[in-house]
Amino acid sequence: MKFFIDTANLEQIKEGAALGILDGVTTNPSLMAKEGIKGAEAIKQHYIDICNIVDGDISAEVLSTTFEEMIVEGKELASLHKNIVVKVPCTADGIKAIKWFADNGIRTNCTLIFTVGQALLAAKAGASYVSPFVGRLDDISSDGIGLVSQIVDVFYTYGYETEVLAASIRSTQHIIDCLEVGAHVATCPLQPILGLLKHPLTDSGMATFIADTAKMQ
Ligand code: E4P
Repeated sequence: MKFFIDTANLEQIKEGAALGILDGVTTNPSLMAKEGIKGAEAIKQHYIDICNIVDGDISAEVLSTTFEEMIVEGKELASLHKNIVVKVPCTADGIKAIKWFADNGIRTNCTLIFTVGQALLAAKAGASYVSPFVGRLDDISSDGIGLVSQIVDVFYTYGYETEVLAASIRSTQHIIDCLEVGAHVATCPLQPILGLLKHPLTDSGMATFIADTAKMQ
């Protein structure tokens, strides 16, 4: 399973990249706004900065909502760097735009996926990735991981090449759940990724080894 980091914070991206296990980055307008990125030039520069830290797919989301505007914006985003994947919402205009991008060699990530039907439309339009939002479904007492599992199964059955990118990951356990249901990618904030390292027996084992190392010197 590939690992993307889900943030626009350059320090966190650098920290994740330093572990050597990052395959890409996802951002969204909320994550970009949180970093205080404002204005067209600053947005473009921020994506270039991210591309210079991580050598993998970098999702850059369109801010427009109509087909025509998404095409203009998506072409501009894709021209920033070869690793940019244009992130497009799962709306009627978005699906039309994904089809246009696919026909014109631009890779896309269809975001805000909450049903298998939405994932199907995105895959048929030629999306490179679909992003089911696990945490936001769990927030409303739905089964986020169940949706990821369902989409993985349907894409496998019908041979769709679109990758299932589990998004809105909130915990380390979510990452393990994504592994178990066969998600191609999980995009996670830094803390759940670091949580994978943690085990009390690792900590106590290390403490013992360090103490015994001292005895040998
Ligand atoms: C990434 O592609 C999504 O935009 C992100 O994971 C959403 O996460 P949230 O539901 O925690 O805001």
